[in-house]
Order: sequence, then structure tokens, then C-alpha cells
Amino acid sequence: MRDIVTFDSEPAEGTINFSIGQPSADLLPIELVRRASETFFNKAQSIELNYGVVEGDGRFLDSLAGFLTEGYGSDARTENLFVTGGNSQGLDMVSTVFAKSGDTVFVEEPSFFLAFQIFRDHGLKIVGIPMDEDGPCIDALNRELKSHKPAFFYTIPSYQNPSGRCTTEPRRREIVDLASKHDFLVVADEVYQLLSYYDSPPIAYGTMTDKGNVISLGSFSKILAPGLRVGWIQTSVALKKRLLASGFANSGGCISHFSSHIVRQTINDGSLKLHIESLRRAYRDRLEAMDGALKKHFSDIAEWTPPKGGYFFWLRFNQSVDTTPLRNMAPELATGFQDGAVFSSKDQLHNYLRVSFAHYRDDDIYEGISRIRSVFDRFGNEKHDRQLLAQR
Ligand SMILES: Cc1ncc(COP(=O)(O)O)c(C=O)c1O
Repeated sequence: MRDIVTFDSEPAEGTINFSIGQPSADLLPIELVRRASETFFNKAQSIELNYGVVEGDGRFLDSLAGFLTEGYGSDARTENLFVTGGNSQGLDMVSTVFAKSGDTVFVEEPSFFLAFQIFRDHGLKIVGIPMDEDGPCIDALNRELKSHKPAFFYTIPSYQNPSGRCTTEPRRREIVDLASKHDFLVVADEVYQLLSYYDSPPIAYGTMTDKGNVISLGSFSKILAPGLRVGWIQTSVALKKRLLASGFANSGGCISHFSSHIVRQTINDGSLKLHIESLRRAYRDRLEAMDGALKKHFSDIAEWTPPKGGYFFWLRFNQSVDTTPLRNMAPELATGFQDGAVFSSKDQLHNYLRVSFAHYRDDDIYEGISRIRSVFDRFGNEKHDRQLLAQR
């Protein structure tokens, strides 16, 4: 695993960089947020600018519970909800409250590289659990449980970053049962749960909190706007109490009080729901454009399963391919992607790469994927050549 991998934000002028896992400007609903803010300010009292209740403003939690009941298709209750500043902050807080330095956490192999960095900030040891088409492998989990007692298992169950896969419902239930048996927590990062473009994904972990060992992290970053920094934790009352007792929450009040008022308006006036529907249409078009471009330019050298939601395609190459040096060469051809190795907790997956279709429209997607193919054609033998040179 590399030391620190930062995430790419705005690409250089003229560059089409598919390592960016963020919405493009045209999908950020500035008018919707402006209207919601105006409605809020027209009625707001000065008290709304105070710290706010630690778990979240009751009016926001009620709206959020309604939103999740509809979105997850199962009754969500206010008492199980806690406001966060998004899933990154939520994950950091979970690492503070439910683990201590030196503890082990299990992650999927592959998994989200920025989560690795959060765990490392807390001095946590990371153990990767391989995945198959149905999600994390239970055999591998059982094997690792013989030599480790994890504080928690971090999973991205729907439209996983980077693989795009969904863990099946039976596999999710098996994982919760294993967590009960071996006394660890399941920390589910459900940031893509509501970004489905065809069928609904399997049931959210947020609906499985009754056994008291599931923490579901949700976020408005991918369905509204990352800059608002609003998310939530859905968990049992007992685990929520532990979050409420944290020094950070006690000192700072609600973690995202002001922005949560704006999000509340968008839920209550129905604009968020309409926005998510339009995002689904836009992302589905982009996904299909990327699949078409990949079929044209990569079908002879890579394999992939088109995702049905989320942001990402995950391409697998022949074992001899190393995408890390290629990633470093990509800016020369004004393009970019994430190499597979950053998603590995064991410095593996060098023959994979991740591309996001969220940040670009169709034309750029076609052009950018053709540029990546040129990167492979032009620099693809470099590793091989370097090995030959070293042997001379
Ligand atoms: C799996 C995963 N978790 C968390 C995040 C970040 O979430 P947030 O913006 O809510 O902090 C991302 C964004 O790329 C992600 O892909």
C-alpha cells in the first residue's frame, strides 16, 4: 500500500481525468440549494445559528427518517440517526469511538484508498478480505477471524468503490451473523446505496441495525452536493449513545448543524427526490457511454462487468500489466485514471484500474477512454523494457 494517495480534484485544462470521483459542475444543483437556503432564511430565527443538538436537529432527523424510510424501503427511526459531516468524517469518528490504536480492522480487497488513510491516522492495522461476485468471501473472513479480532469490518456494500459490485443480501446477512458470533462491528459505507440506475440494490445495512452490531454511514455528497458536508450514521440506540458521548461531539454540538437545515428543506419540498431521479438518468447515460467507449478501445486487453449504479468501472488486465507506471504517464496524454494498487491493502491488484464516469459528458468520455488506450499502446511495454534493460 502506498503511503499517502490524495484524491484528484479539478483536472488541468484540456485534461480528461477519470480518476476524479466527483460530480461535474452541471450536476451540482446550485439553484435547488439557493431556493432551499432562501426558504430557510425567510423563516430562520437566530437560534438556528447556535451549535445545535449533538445528534442533529430534531426537525432534520424527522425529515431524514422519512427520506430513508422511502429510499431504503424500510421504517427508519429518528432515535437511530446521528448527523455527520459526511462519510469521511463519520468513518473518522467511528474509528475514534469504536477502535483504539493498534486494533485491527478488516476491509474488502479492493477497497476505498482514502478509508485506508483514515484507519492509518488512527493507528489501525488493516487486513484485506478478498471478494467474489457476491461480495466479501465468507471463507476468507472465517480464516482471518482465526488469527485476528477486528474492531470492525469496513464494507462498501452497494456499487463498491472501486469494483462497482453489490454484495448480495444473503452475503450481507451472513456477515452480520458472523459479526454477532465473533463480536465485531460491521461498518457499512452506503454512500452509493441510492445511486442505482437500473434495479434497486440489495437491502441497505441501515435497515439491519436491530442486532446492535451494524453502523451504516450515509451521505448527501453523492446525491446532493459534497460541499454541504452533511451525512448521517444509522445505528442501534446503544451504539449511538457511544457516539453522543464522544468529546468531539460534546464540544462541538451538531457536526453539520447549519447545512442540515438546507438539506432539510430539499427533502421537505421534494426537490431532492426529483434531483436524485435526474442524477440517475444522467449517470446512467454516462455509464453506458463509458461502457461503449471501453468496448471499442479495451475489449481486446481488459475485462470488466458494467456496474449498475455508483460511479466506477473496474478493469482487469493480464497479470503482466502494471497500471501504476501507466497512471503516472497518463498526464502526458492529457488523461488520467486510478491504478489498481491504491485500492489494495496488500500492494496487490497492480493489473487493475478504476475509471469514474461521474465527472464527464459522453463526448469527453469517448475521447478520454481513447486517450487511455493510447497510454497503454505507447507506454504499456515500459515495465517489460525496463526489466530487459536492467538485465543487460
Ligand atoms: C466509498 C466512499 N466513501 C466515502 C466517500 C466520501 O464521502 P463523503 O463525501 O460523504 O465524506 C466516497 C467518495 O468518493 C466514497 O467513494
